[in-house]
Amino acid sequence: MQPLLVALDVDTPDAARRLTDALRGVVGGFKIGSRLFTAHGPSFVEELVAQGDRVFLDLKFHDIPNTVAGAVAAATRLGVWMVNVHAAGGVEMMRAAREAADREAAAGMTSPPMVIAVTVLTSFTPAGLARTGIDSPIPDHVRRLALLAQESGLDGVVASPQEIDLIKGACDPRFAIVTPGIRGAGDAMGDQNRTASAAGALAAGASYLVVGRPIIAAPDPRAAALKIVEECGTQGS
Ligand code: C5P
Repeated sequence: MQPLLVALDVDTPDAARRLTDALRGVVGGFKIGSRLFTAHGPSFVEELVAQGDRVFLDLKFHDIPNTVAGAVAAATRLGVWMVNVHAAGGVEMMRAAREAADREAAAGMTSPPMVIAVTVLTSFTPAGLARTGIDSPIPDHVRRLALLAQESGLDGVVASPQEIDLIKGACDPRFAIVTPGIRGAGDAMGDQNRTASAAGALAAGASYLVVGRPIIAAPDPRAAALKIVEECGTQGS
C-alpha cells in the first residue's frame, strides 16, 4: 500500500472532507488526531471508515491499563485501521491495549487494528526530554520504549525518522515504524525537531510516513501529496 498517511489536523469535518476528497487515491490513509476528534468526536471517523478509507486514530492513549483497554476496544469497534498508545504507559498498559483490540475484533468478527506505541515525540529536543526527568539520550530511550512495545505484543512504534536505524537494529523486521516529522527542503519546521525528508525516511526503512502541514497547509494539497509520492517512487493508494 501507499505508505503516505496524511494528518487531518483541522477543526471541522468540512475542512477535513475537503482534504480527503482531494487526497483519496493519492495517499494510503488519513490520520485523525486529538484536534479533530475532540471537536467532533467519532462520527467523522465512522464516515471515513464507511467510505473504505484507512483511518489511523492518533489519540495516543496513556492511562491505567483498564481505561486504555476500554478506549482501544472502542477504537476497534469504530473500525479504524491503526490506533496508538504512549509506550511510556508501560508493559501492562500496552498488553491491555493489545488484548482489548484482539478481543473486540474477534467479538465483531473483524481484523484487529494495528496497535502501535509512541516512543519519544518528534517535537522533543534532548534538553526538553531531560527536563521531564529522563536522563538517557533520546536514541537510548527510543530503543528502550520500542523494545517494551514489541515485548507487549504491539505491531510497531511511532518514532522520528532519525531513529529508524536504531529501531531496525533492535526490533523484529516485521515491527512497523511510523514516522512523523517529515519535512522537505524549504518546508517550515514548525514545532518538529527531529526530522527527515519523506524519501530519506523511506530509504531508512520507515513503514509509514505521517505528513501534516507540508500537505494540508499547502495551496494545493493534492499536488503537494503527489510531489511527495513521486519523490518516494511509491505511486498508488
Ligand atoms: O504537521 P506535521 O507534519 O508536523 O504533523 C505531524 C503529525 O504527526 C501531527 O498530527 C502530530 O500530532 C503527529 N505526531 C507527531 N509526533 C509523534 C506522534 C504523532 O508529530 N511522535
